[in-house]
Amino acid sequence: MGDSEGGSLNSPLREKLGASDYLSVWKDYGVYGIVGAVVVGILIPIVLSSVFMGKKKEKQRGVPVQVGGEAGYAVRNAQASELVEVPWEGATTMAALFEQSCKKNSQYNFLGTRKLISKEFITASDGRKFEKLHLGDYEWQTYGEIFDRACNFASGLVRLGHNLDSRAAIFSDTRPEWFIALQGCFRQNITVVTIYASLGEDALIHSLNETQVSTLICESKQLKKLAAISSGLESIQNIIYFENDGTENDISVSGSMSNWTVSAFSEVEKLGKTSPVHPSLPSKNGNAVVMYTSGSTGLPKGVMITHGNIVATAASVKTVVPNIRRSDIYLAYLPLAHVFELAAESVMLAAGCSMGYGSTLTLTDTSNKIKKGTKGDASVLKPTILTAVPAILDRVRDGVLKEVEEKGGLAKNLFNIVYKRRLSAVEGSWLGAWGLERVLWDVLVFKRIRALLGGDLRFILCGGAPLSADSQRFINICMGAPISQAYGLTETFAGATFSEFDDTTVGRVGPPLPCCYIKLVSWEEGGYKSTDKPMPRGEIVVGGFSVTAGYFKNQEKTNEAYKVDEKGMRWFYTGDIGQFHPDGCLEIIDRKKDIVKLQHGEYVSLGKVEAALSTSNYVDNIMLHADPFHNNCVALVVPSHQVLKKWAQQAGINYRDFSELCDKAETVSEVQQSLSKAAKTAKLDKFETPAKIKLLPEAWTPESGLVTAAFKIKREQLKAKFKDELQRLYG
Ligand SMILES: *[C@@H]1O[C@H](CO)[C@@H](O)[C@H](O)[C@H]1NC(C)=O
Ligand SMILES: *[C@@H]1O[C@H](CO)[C@@H](O)[C@H](O)[C@H]1NC(C)=O
Ligand SMILES: *[C@@H]1O[C@H](CO)[C@@H](O)[C@H](O)[C@H]1NC(C)=O
Repeated sequence: MGDSEGGSLNSPLREKLGASDYLSVWKDYGVYGIVGAVVVGILIPIVLSSVFMGKKKEKQRGVPVQVGGEAGYAVRNAQASELVEVPWEGATTMAALFEQSCKKNSQYNFLGTRKLISKEFITASDGRKFEKLHLGDYEWQTYGEIFDRACNFASGLVRLGHNLDSRAAIFSDTRPEWFIALQGCFRQNITVVTIYASLGEDALIHSLNETQVSTLICESKQLKKLAAISSGLESIQNIIYFENDGTENDISVSGSMSNWTVSAFSEVEKLGKTSPVHPSLPSKNGNAVVMYTSGSTGLPKGVMITHGNIVATAASVKTVVPNIRRSDIYLAYLPLAHVFELAAESVMLAAGCSMGYGSTLTLTDTSNKIKKGTKGDASVLKPTILTAVPAILDRVRDGVLKEVEEKGGLAKNLFNIVYKRRLSAVEGSWLGAWGLERVLWDVLVFKRIRALLGGDLRFILCGGAPLSADSQRFINICMGAPISQAYGLTETFAGATFSEFDDTTVGRVGPPLPCCYIKLVSWEEGGYKSTDKPMPRGEIVVGGFSVTAGYFKNQEKTNEAYKVDEKGMRWFYTGDIGQFHPDGCLEIIDRKKDIVKLQHGEYVSLGKVEAALSTSNYVDNIMLHADPFHNNCVALVVPSHQVLKKWAQQAGINYRDFSELCDKAETVSEVQQSLSKAAKTAKLDKFETPAKIKLLPEAWTPESGLVTAAFKIKREQLKAKFKDELQRLYG
């Protein structure tokens, strides 16, 4: 069912972020600072804590609610007795929201980009070439100017001859023109197909063909790639490309593109400006976007997102960001073809904020593409609000820790003391964390770390995959900004739950957003029931205004995952298993399918991998274990007694009993090599191949309850029985 949230968002980002981003934090601590910090930091907090400690009363964030449809345990946001549908009256579509927000904020900055000052290539010692950019300040356009550009683009599309009954697609990295093109299409009631810029050719051809896209909007750097596959792009008539600032645009139209009308984005804007066309605005239930997500299996699926879905999520997420306002600055750098970024930018639009565009390659002063001695996007923009995926936050944490470790000595001790004090303050009482102690630590220790991301961050939205408790705490403390964890899927236009800024717990994803209800429906096979004590558990089902219209041209899959109840409310069955805490916050505890998304966004199909690994002669039975908090898998293996003993004999290995043989490092290594070979033969990816294995001497039998009568493994039971073994494999 809902196996497509997140896509492979994390993997490209992980590679791009500069490894040395955090290396300059600890360079110059003064000795005075350290001594002062220790004195002030140890004496004052002790006094303060004893004054302010005292547990705060638990806030009720979600409350049970009666709903229609399948039986279960349903919860709504505690603040909203009626579901929120629009940010304000009249903003029922994205086109209306855009127009009204642009009018309201017309003279304020909206979209900004950095000017390219120069570009150079440096050659590394191994001969590889790296592009380095020298980027200038942000240059801004106001809400009024952006509105005009979107109107011009909309008119230009019509003048260009785009058939208004057909769709347009955007295939590009995140940039302001992406957003302008989207809004332009909406003003002519054109549905926009979005495709991940990192999707493979087959997926690209499939998506464009399935939706019969006639106008493709892309970056000039994509033109070559498109020309190469043009024979598969039968429905395309127009190509509109975004020009690159200050560099040559490679638009040499090759023969195979001769059937296409190829135009620059600015030409289309000009065309529309000189001959405007009346808008033809969409309606609330109209299809705004068909968003292709890299599903866990096979070709990507297109999720049909209505205008109503987008404005509902935007309206409710806006209530989650404390006091979001016009003066807030948002750094936009995640892929817009991912629901999380599109939802976030819609929130900023609704709130009248400024959005400065950047990229993962230029995010910080030491990012890969930033020319040495020049500034990264965050340092120049100084954002107050940032979205991030766990891979990025993990990276920040690892970088800072590595730096602390390398620095050693006083700085390391200081960091550790301060970190521990802050941690206990955060965990003990929120008040303590806001006290004088906090201010001191901020000035003395954390200011430098914060400067990595500009220094002015006051709120981080994290989504796309689960964030580990460690990283959440670390970023919380070091960045000094609350992190809200979002849980949502493309199918619910990112909107499902959102943790609140004053919730200091870890590992939970908050109460339902005000635009939807969350219901837990019992999943008997898995042993999760909505009547479970102490917490109701079950499959997470989302109902309300953010629930999308279904999968494009795929009624079967739509019927499997979506249901409409007797009151007309749409529900989406996520396939995730959750439990509700007494305060109405959701925790994701499992996944219904045997498909697991690893920490960096790759999917592992447990059954597929197990089947492949079972071809090794050593394997009698195997259970692969993957966990969204890790980026590799591990496996429990019951080896074949016969084959293993034979090998031991030949290898001259002595052992008392089979159990001891299984524990020997040589044995484990031998079996693991055999598994790697099997994985290679089956063309498994590295992340699918178990990084560590545990050999278990005893067979899994139906009697022991570890496999079914048909000898199918029972994951939940195995996981429970070998909990400690699994934990050690990850340790
Ligand atoms: C495009 O879709 C049509 C059906 O709508 C199909 O017949 C055709 O083979 C597809 N072309 C490609 C290149 O996938
Ligand atoms: C261009 O279109 C014509 C007719 O639609 C077709 O016969 C021809 O093969 C196309 N050329 C290319 C290069 O795709
Ligand atoms: C928008 O376009 C769709 C078809 O794509 C159509 O069904 C709908 O009626 C149009 N909406 C308006 C308000 O014209």
